[in-house]
Amino acid sequence: MKHDNSKFPFDEDNYTHNINRLNERSLDRRGFMKTLVGAAGLFAVSTLPWGAVAAKELLSLGDKAYPMKKIVKVSQIGIGDSVKFTYPGEHDDALLIRLGENKYKAYQNACTHLRCPVLWDKKEGDMICPCHHGKFDVQSGAPTAGPPRRPLPEIIVEVQDGTIYATRVKRYEA
Ligand code: FES
Repeated sequence: MKHDNSKFPFDEDNYTHNINRLNERSLDRRGFMKTLVGAAGLFAVSTLPWGAVAAKELLSLGDKAYPMKKIVKVSQIGIGDSVKFTYPGEHDDALLIRLGENKYKAYQNACTHLRCPVLWDKKEGDMICPCHHGKFDVQSGAPTAGPPRRPLPEIIVEVQDGTIYATRVKRYEA
């Protein structure tokens, strides 16, 4: 006798006849949806604290208190020269540039493109990023050439008794 096993379910006893395939598939779908919902829930819960921390940080940025930090003595930086320092944290690299007798500009100098260190080109009077030929205006920190689109964060400085101090990081309006 010839068996037609292309029909479903099989009309004869064999190893798979007792499996209800349609039901199995619906269970699979249900299981999959449960896993998906579970994973989404887990992701939401696990990222919640960080979202809250980020929101708090953004909302309180305007009145954030910065430390007053000594950069260098006025006598140690010539007009047209620059000095590296860090502000506000030990890993926040920054650059102080003396533009005139009493004129200073300072910026956090991680390039706003891909964070290469931005340098002061004294001869050209430009702040340059050697990685992808980015340039920033020394008066405002605004990008003037290359891929960067956002300005360098400016650090407000103050001279007291012949010493230059960093006092805060200027907040840019979005
Ligand atoms: S990292 Fe500065 S231009 Fe790309």
